[in-house]
Amino acid sequence: MALIPLNINNYEQILAWRNSPNVRNAMFHSQEISLKEHQEWFKKLQRNDDRQWFIFQDSEGMAQGVVYFNDINGVHSTAFWGFYTRPEALLGTGIRLALEAIDHLFNKLEINKLCAEVRSDNQRSLIFHQKIGFIEEGVFRSQYFNGQQSIDIIRFGILSGEWPIHKEQLQKRICELSLLAERPPPADIT
Ligand SMILES: CC(C)(COP(=O)(O)OP(=O)(O)OC[C@H]1O[C@@H](n2cnc3c(N)ncnc32)[C@H](O)[C@@H]1OP(=O)(O)O)[C@@H](O)C(=O)NCCC(=O)NCCS
Repeated sequence: MALIPLNINNYEQILAWRNSPNVRNAMFHSQEISLKEHQEWFKKLQRNDDRQWFIFQDSEGMAQGVVYFNDINGVHSTAFWGFYTRPEALLGTGIRLALEAIDHLFNKLEINKLCAEVRSDNQRSLIFHQKIGFIEEGVFRSQYFNGQQSIDIIRFGILSGEWPIHKEQLQKRICELSLLAERPPPADIT
């Protein structure tokens, strides 16, 4: 597994994932993005040094997701993150991506706190953050109009000191998932 910095040669492949309904409906900007907009966004990204974007590759070097840190603040030692997996990614991809990304932030960038803001209509991501070890820190009531109604935004945080215990649990879960994937399918009962 590896995090590959988003670059001129790989950034176009993430547009189709970003535009898939599953991802769009989880984001704060949920309109479809054109190739031209994507190219302009990438140009701007290169001038921004408080952001880091990565493609997450599995152990076979296949791109499986995107993870990024925004508002990286060296003074307060904080950052926000976001992520999405390739629409066809296997279950368990999300926790593998999280493990690589959070380890990178806490151990390589030496940031002390990672924050997230999640739409309250994104049940999967709410559960996902809790599973990884994030603590809910607050609710911004009726903060975002999702096209139908105003919904809450849930703020989460995790500190670098809290990470090792959660990391161990995630590693165990990943081992279980790998064992399940290796198990032969049950024999036909005839
Ligand atoms: C959120 C996302 C990255 C999760 O990736 P994933 O590969 O589906 O997640 P995993 O299979 O690794 O699951 C990790 C945990 O999330 C939770 N989870 C996963 N799928 C779930 C579902 N359908 N419903 C509820 N919880 C779910 C479970 O707790 C799961 O752990 P478990 O299998 O040990 O019970 C992925 O669904 C995605 O890209 N969503 C769209 C983008 C997005 O929401 N980004 C975050 C914005 S804040």
